Amino acid sequence: MNDQASSLRRIVGENTTTSDPNRVKVLCITSGKGGVGKTNISINLSIALASMGRKVFLLDADLGLANIDVLLNLTPIYTLEHVLSGEKSINDIILDGPGDIKILPASSGVVEMTEMDHDQQVHLFRKLGEIEREIDYLVIDTGAGIAPHTLRFVANSDEVLIVATPEPSSMTDAYSLIKIMVTRYQINKFRVIANNVVSPAEGRQVYERLQKVTRDFLKTDIDFMGHVLKDPLLVKSVRTQRPLLQSFPEAPAARCLISIARGIEKIHKPVAALKSLSIEHTENVNHQRTTSFWERLISWRIS
Ligand SMILES: Nc1ncnc2c1ncn2[C@@H]1O[C@H](COP(=O)(O)OP(=O)(O)OP(=O)(O)O)[C@@H](O)[C@H]1O
Ligand SMILES: [Mg+2]
Repeated sequence: MNDQASSLRRIVGENTTTSDPNRVKVLCITSGKGGVGKTNISINLSIALASMGRKVFLLDADLGLANIDVLLNLTPIYTLEHVLSGEKSINDIILDGPGDIKILPASSGVVEMTEMDHDQQVHLFRKLGEIEREIDYLVIDTGAGIAPHTLRFVANSDEVLIVATPEPSSMTDAYSLIKIMVTRYQINKFRVIANNVVSPAEGRQVYERLQKVTRDFLKTDIDFMGHVLKDPLLVKSVRTQRPLLQSFPEAPAARCLISIARGIEKIHKPVAALKSLSIEHTENVNHQRTTSFWERLISWRIS
């Protein structure tokens, strides 16, 4: 923990961080290239995790146009910006999403929050810490590329899930993103979701190609989180503004997303709970933390 984080922690006191900072798992969905399926994956993964009994918050941290609210036909009147300006409380801006997920519309508030002065940051910790105490997963839908606020989320997440498609430009952009994160920011834990693939084998190929270049040129191993099939029903669900998992839960892509959610549970759940889900193995990557996600997020300085 750096000096600023520890001084903020002292000022804020115990109540502002979660009672168990290890409870919430932060999943950041990102990509090198735009339009590869991040928002759809974020929404449907969140719904899948919620259907497994987890409390899930979905944070819209993308400043682009096609955002979560559009895909879900929600109209957030207030966003994090209004919380930062003191006009609204955090509970006023949270939206009830489909499948029992909660949505935190951030919009340009995510940029502002990193530029706040010390007192404002302490105020925000208090508000966001209240949410963090109650949730199992915070899923963050970021914009594509390496905007500073995106890197901030990526650097402080438990899992960086990189979405790539078989399109060559998607893969080269994914590699460029990984390269910057590894070489400039020493972030070196990534998992790939291969989206829009015509077969599981093609998904594996997307991963293996990326794995080969990151291993050869960056000396970094990346993991495979799974594939999502190219599915016209997903396109249909976008048009009708109803998430795939709700409109077509049996669709091929829906099954893939449920399988990825099970994979995430397998990585992050305690062993006792795994047994009840009949999941045998765990990578047990749960690591102990003493600071809350938001604390780390705000304290993180781009070098
Ligand atoms: N598995 C899939 N099968 C078929 N079409 C897909 C699939 N995944 C994504 N798409 C198509 O790609 C479009 C873009 O998806 P989405 O908005 O989730 O991408 P994004 O990465 O969030 O984009 P942006 O970078 O603009 O935020 C969808 O509207 C859909 O038409
Ligand atoms: Mg998007």
